[in-house]
Amino acid sequence: MTGSVVQSWVRSSAWLAAIVCGSLATATASAQDQVKPGDARHGKAISYTCLGCHGIDGYKNAYPNYSVPKLEGQNPEYLAAALHGYKSGDRSHITMHAQASTLSDQDIADIAAFFAGKPLVSAHKPVGTAPAAAALCVSCHGQDGVTIAPMYPSLAGQHTDYLVRALMEYKKGGRKNPIMSGFVASLKDEELSQISEYFARQRPALSTESRPYTRLTVDRSHE
Ligand code: HEC
Ligand code: HEC
Repeated sequence: MTGSVVQSWVRSSAWLAAIVCGSLATATASAQDQVKPGDARHGKAISYTCLGCHGIDGYKNAYPNYSVPKLEGQNPEYLAAALHGYKSGDRSHITMHAQASTLSDQDIADIAAFFAGKPLVSAHKPVGTAPAAAALCVSCHGQDGVTIAPMYPSLAGQHTDYLVRALMEYKKGGRKNPIMSGFVASLKDEELSQISEYFARQRPALSTESRPYTRLTVDRSHE
């Protein structure tokens, strides 16, 4: 090959690379374009059914009996990931699967933005001392239960019985997240209870979404 042929070969491969990279970049951008940043106002408008359970403090799941999780104060990224988990079946729960299945990806982003409200900010003042079995857990979920990354759930102030239930589900396979299944596999049931109690005590705490409207208040407004 003469020098000029090599040069033109190098130039054309550079072009090829540019074209391939360019089209990849376009493909990625258009996939992201499909879901716009969550619109909390639209999320609120489509959350009526959800608030029938998530908007009542202390509301219980029947058979088995445990508290419906608090959502306010989580990060929207985590709430969206959880909803996708119920939709795909990575998390098994009949009602939540039915609920999430009716939502588009954009609805999930919008509803996650609404329920998250203002995500918790750590005060770096853990309440009490974390049980020894929670040594690893705090590296992701925070010493005070306020998560260190938006894709992980905050656990601070969550209902103890819900935390126990979730941990048992990772252990028994009802929830298939490989990270969590690995971490809980070796823990005893008693340790899972102690860890759950510790995180449930932490502040600032997650809370139950207040209901902006109920059937009763709607009906009364016409009186
Ligand atoms: C009939 C009651 C009920 C209704 C209605 C309901 N949920 Fe749930 N939700 C639950 C229960 C119970 C769980 C816990 C399920 C489990 O054990 O994994 C849950 C779990 C969740 C979680 C996971 C929370 C976490 O900490 O991981 C999210 C997010 C959620 N629901 C959002 C919604 C949204 C959005 C709607 C409306 C489209 C909705 N839920 C409707 C009862 C309900
Ligand atoms: C590497 C980071 C990491 C570590 C370490 C970790 N977790 Fe998690 N945890 C996650 C992620 C990610 C999820 C969400 C999984 C899913 O999609 O269901 C999660 C979910 C949970 C949930 C469910 C919360 C909810 O609202 O449903 C509980 C409870 C929990 N973790 C407790 C623990 C405990 C206890 C430990 C230690 C034994 C632990 N985690 C260690 C990342 C971590």
